Amino acid sequence: TKRKLWGGRFTGTTDPLLFEYNESLSYDKRMHAQDIRGSQAYARALVKCNILTESEKDEIVAGLDKVGQEWKDGTFKIQPDDEDIHTANERRLKELIGPVAGKLHTGRSRNDQVATDMRLWLMDEALAIEIFLKELVQVMVARAREEVDALMPGYTHLQRAQPIRWSHLLLSHATYFAADLARLRSFIPRISVLPLGSGPLAGNPFEGMDRDAIAKDLGFQTVGTNSMNSVSDRDFVVEFLMWASLTAIHLSKIAEDFIIYSSAEFGFIQLSDAYTTGSSIMPQKKNPDSLELLRGKSGRIFGQMSGFMMSLKGIPSTYNKDLQEDKEPMFDAVDTIRNSLQIATGVISTLSIFPEKMKAALTTDMLATDLAEYLVRKGIPFRETHHISGSAVRLSEEKKCQLSDLSLADLQGLSDKFEDDVMKVWSFEESVGRRNAKGGTSRRAVLEQCDTLKRELDL
Ligand code: ARG
Repeated sequence: TKRKLWGGRFTGTTDPLLFEYNESLSYDKRMHAQDIRGSQAYARALVKCNILTESEKDEIVAGLDKVGQEWKDGTFKIQPDDEDIHTANERRLKELIGPVAGKLHTGRSRNDQVATDMRLWLMDEALAIEIFLKELVQVMVARAREEVDALMPGYTHLQRAQPIRWSHLLLSHATYFAADLARLRSFIPRISVLPLGSGPLAGNPFEGMDRDAIAKDLGFQTVGTNSMNSVSDRDFVVEFLMWASLTAIHLSKIAEDFIIYSSAEFGFIQLSDAYTTGSSIMPQKKNPDSLELLRGKSGRIFGQMSGFMMSLKGIPSTYNKDLQEDKEPMFDAVDTIRNSLQIATGVISTLSIFPEKMKAALTTDMLATDLAEYLVRKGIPFRETHHISGSAVRLSEEKKCQLSDLSLADLQGLSDKFEDDVMKVWSFEESVGRRNAKGGTSRRAVLEQCDTLKRELDL
């Protein structure tokens, strides 16, 4: 135990399984760069408290640079007693620069240190994720513009409902992702709150400790306002997990749409070879594994979220070791959502559409609403026209013909307001063109959506 940083009051040794159970270095080493940055900023702060001289600070900062370089080069040697990234870095610093390393942790605790490292790490990742999310929306908007004229059936209850533009469907999903982007941006300030300088729980005792300067040094927007809160607050992790869960729902939904549309029964789209796999027995298969994993991985993210929330509930105030369970869910959710966003961008940017197949799936019964609206324009209340159009659908079913094959006489048998011009109702182009109010599926309204989304990306 002598080699442990906290070994002073111990005489016995740690049970080997407890050591393994307790260690976090195997995964928190991912935060090595953030741990070094935090320590360097703290060393600079200790100068103002007269705990370190300028030259001691310089030694510590340079020593930490070396430790950081070892991590980057892959030459950092983990020792059997290294418990977490904080103790490992400090142990190595002491080996490199000697006893002066022992001054670094003055007034600091691993409690304010770990919370600082995690927030720094997540801020870095959130910025990377923001870029991937922007790329996804960009790709969708670009496709929507390019393929603005392809028409397809729109579904409710997965039953044919009304004709829409393919681009309109694409943008319906892009709109979810744009909201995810706005939500991500809006909670970055809540990650960016500095815990360092809180000590283990009660605050930092050294005069001259300038926490605002540390925040500035490390790029935090604000300083934690209560030290007990600062060392235990993991809401930023929860909020990230919630954000990732909701984003994963959106990825799962578009995946489900595209799995359906790429089946032979629909045949509206085909995934590129890069995002499909074959079957080990059925030579003809081209399976949309990429989409199925996008759908499946969402479950994993929800699991991380609910698992960590259960760990958090009922912990007494300030730091308790339960909090160490914050890292793996955060790391895993970050990795999963990062990969998912990139896979989604890849799938969507490389798939092919079959506009002829989409068009061929349009049937004129999907214009029954338009037929009712035709009569509305002739002055009949909609509730009546809905009924008349419904009767027309029933008649076409009886006659085993398409709704548009009913003769003018057939229609006039249902309402004397039907005239020659009713034949114009049977155009899918006209139908989507009429849906021209903001947010609709007309060409103009879809292109307007593209512009709006582009503007949101650049905010
Ligand atoms: N590895 C620990 C964690 O991740 C660091 C904080 C340890 N603090 C303590 N008081 N034991 O939570």
